[in-house]
Amino acid sequence: MDKQLINTVNRLQDAFAQSGLSSAPIDLPQIAVIGSQSSGKSSVLENIVGRDFLPRGTGIVTRRPLVLQLINRPAAPKANGDAKEEGTQPTSDKASNADEWAEFLHRPGEKFFDFNKVRDEIVADTDLKTGKNAGISPLPIGLRIFSPHVLTLTLVDLPGLTKVPVGDQPRDIEVQIRNMLLKFIQKPNSIILAVTAANTDLANSDGLQLARAVDPEGLRTIGVLTKVDLMDTGTDVVDILAGRIIPLRLGYVPVVNRGQRDIDNKRPIAAALEHEREFFENHPSYRSKASYCGTPYLTRRLNTILMHHIKATLPDIKAKISANLAKYEAELASLGGPQGGTDGSSVILGIITEFCGDFRTAIDGSSSDLALNE
Ligand code: GDP
Ligand code: NA
Ligand code: MG
Repeated sequence: MDKQLINTVNRLQDAFAQSGLSSAPIDLPQIAVIGSQSSGKSSVLENIVGRDFLPRGTGIVTRRPLVLQLINRPAAPKANGDAKEEGTQPTSDKASNADEWAEFLHRPGEKFFDFNKVRDEIVADTDLKTGKNAGISPLPIGLRIFSPHVLTLTLVDLPGLTKVPVGDQPRDIEVQIRNMLLKFIQKPNSIILAVTAANTDLANSDGLQLARAVDPEGLRTIGVLTKVDLMDTGTDVVDILAGRIIPLRLGYVPVVNRGQRDIDNKRPIAAALEHEREFFENHPSYRSKASYCGTPYLTRRLNTILMHHIKATLPDIKAKISANLAKYEAELASLGGPQGGTDGSSVILGIITEFCGDFRTAIDGSSSDLALNE
């Protein structure tokens, strides 16, 4: 049921993106990832997906928003019938596997089974829309990953906060990036995932500072602390986790991603996740709370937060959709062409009808969940 609800929101997101409507009619719930350049955002996302698929390098690699829809889809039953459990991590990092693939919104109908090709396509489409001079563009790239190993979740990867322009980058790149991030995170329906390296001072975290500008009370910001393995011996993030430094209602999750050497040595993500688990289970500061540390916990937590958030915002979204239906229909009709006209609007209407059905089931089926004010 919960999965279905996120899927419906995903389909609405696509339908609106493709409809040619002049502006996003409603803000759908999603998780926006922000933080300084090199704080570990890409590493966190790849660990959540369990795949290497994001471009890497120095400078500003992420130059357009990447709307990443993870869709849990059970593995096709094998001859021996042992389909994997939902949300478990993959045991291998082979570049392809028949049960896992990616699709880009701008390349409908094409399935990418090779995740190296996914990375190439992100790079190619980024260059296509921004030019090669490392400029940025607010035009999102839509990417869906279908896998038995992910939890259904929508994340938006955004350019990292940076201070110094490099090469022939625009001089005001810092302001441009800030403004783009603000556009995403100021929407009340967005959850802010603020990434900060644990070996830097939390008070100086660019991600948290920006989050604070739009969410001053820390109600919809979740903190992720990366590079916990790189902290000086004898120091830890226990005070941060306990909310004694900068409290956030959704709290903080510490993680350990692959270091640069691991990436250079092509250390598989599965091995890195195993190392992360051992790190927290054996560390004197985290041993007693190891089940609240690391990527698998972060993933489950994000899934729960997004679900509660969608349920809490549904009444408002539904009201907005109903209030605007006539306007959308008129706008779609006036667009004409293959995407507009009655075809386009009937697709959206169909999804909305289904959406309202899911919504009602959510209300009727889990009223106690709705009381959870997350
Ligand atoms: P982004 O710019 O925020 O996307 O950061 P990346 O994910 O590309 O990471 C920047 C660098 O930090 C890379 O060399 C990563 O290998 C390294 N890194 C990220 N997270 C960790 C971590 O938890 N531990 C260690 N040791 N290195 C990390
Ligand atoms: Na940061
Ligand atoms: Mg990155």
